[in-house]
Amino acid sequence: MRSHFSSRLGFIMAAAGSAIGLGNIWKFPFEVGESGGAAFIIVYLFFCFVLCFPILVSEIAIGRRTQRNAYGAFKVLGFPRWAVIGLLQVVVSLFILSFYNVVAGWSFGYFIEMLIGNFAIGEQFPQYVQNIPRISVYSILFMVATGFIVAQGVSAGIEKYTKILMPVLIAIMLGLAGYALTLPGAGEGLSFYLVPDVSKINLDVIYNALGHAFFSLSLGLGGLMTYGSYLSKKDSILSSAVAVTVMDVLIAFMAGFMLFPFVFSQGLDAEGGPGLVFMALPAVFASLGTVWGTIIGSLFFLLLSFAALTSTVSILEVSVAYLKDEHQFSRFKAVILSATVIFLLGLPSMLGNGSSEFFTSFITYGGTTADFMTLISDLSSNTFLPLAGLLISLFVAYVWRPDQLIQELSSDGHYTIPNWVAIYLKIALRYVCPLILSLIFLFTVLEKFFGIQIIG
Ligand code: TRP
Repeated sequence: MRSHFSSRLGFIMAAAGSAIGLGNIWKFPFEVGESGGAAFIIVYLFFCFVLCFPILVSEIAIGRRTQRNAYGAFKVLGFPRWAVIGLLQVVVSLFILSFYNVVAGWSFGYFIEMLIGNFAIGEQFPQYVQNIPRISVYSILFMVATGFIVAQGVSAGIEKYTKILMPVLIAIMLGLAGYALTLPGAGEGLSFYLVPDVSKINLDVIYNALGHAFFSLSLGLGGLMTYGSYLSKKDSILSSAVAVTVMDVLIAFMAGFMLFPFVFSQGLDAEGGPGLVFMALPAVFASLGTVWGTIIGSLFFLLLSFAALTSTVSILEVSVAYLKDEHQFSRFKAVILSATVIFLLGLPSMLGNGSSEFFTSFITYGGTTADFMTLISDLSSNTFLPLAGLLISLFVAYVWRPDQLIQELSSDGHYTIPNWVAIYLKIALRYVCPLILSLIFLFTVLEKFFGIQIIG
């Protein structure tokens, strides 16, 4: 018997926990900062609701219909050739988790630094990430915590812990955002964040916003397919999917309300890149004095670690479910094997932040030199996830058929799906997703590899 979430709320918490992660709190603000503020947000929201939502619904529905992992699902539906997508998803999930876990380990380490009042850590960030023995310990601890939750299974592990972690996370976040808004730089921060400069929109912004929408909603890796396979037949997929999407977008949005006032109150550079959270924030916390700085600072990095943990759990579950379903592994053995492989795959990402010259200037493409982590992140989230999304939309629209999707959404007739929803999903999956996703691909390949600029 396949285990299931005990309630719809359990599924929503687990899926929202998967979606809400480093992507919302660490990546979203720096992407916004690098892409000139609110313009990025508009493009991002468009992608979330118009392009990604139908794919999100499809992933959950395929999982629930087949009660299988991301690979097995396509076979059960009777299209074994399409299972290649699933296999790729399982492989890419290992790569994504390999670098994600490193950053999660940094966050956890920062939680400890804040607890002991070491606010100078922000300036020492470059040295911090090069201390490989220490970072390895943090990453291993994080992986052990992730494995501990996943090993206990769906309802006794994933559901139980996300149901505790998510409300705590939301409470900490509301508190921190409320506090940030009272700081002197808040107004300036908010206007950078909220007033769009449409002239900033170019192909890079569009490409990053697309990749980020997929990454943030946990699409294209079979994560939601796997979670969908644990959703009870009588629960509504559609309303759960709306709840997850709205929560994900709201939390990212709120992270900006917290971060930009912090950053501007210190006169720091909003375009700080990936280091924004790790380099800028400790100085902010230091300015609050030792007591408040310790409290707010450790709460913030605890928040970041919790957000990351509910996401790492969902990514690990992709390969665990695959090994269990397809290769008859016990859950425990599947966790051990996946976690070990992921940790080893993460070593080059860890070394590429200055410790090893080779992995630090690993490759030059599109005119810039990238370290190993940036390469993997760019290839997997910005390129592979939308590609998987494209394939899933084609699969549902032309192979599995939208009627089957609607049938599953209705829980075999238990719920009525409004006509306009059915039409919107059909049009999006048949035309809008394939068209927009392939155009963005084409333009990006032309620009990155052939230097031909179409937009911007
Ligand atoms: N969505 C998570 C975040 O924003 C990361 C994540 C979890 C993810 N599961 C995923 C990304 C599956 C891509 C695919 O941090």
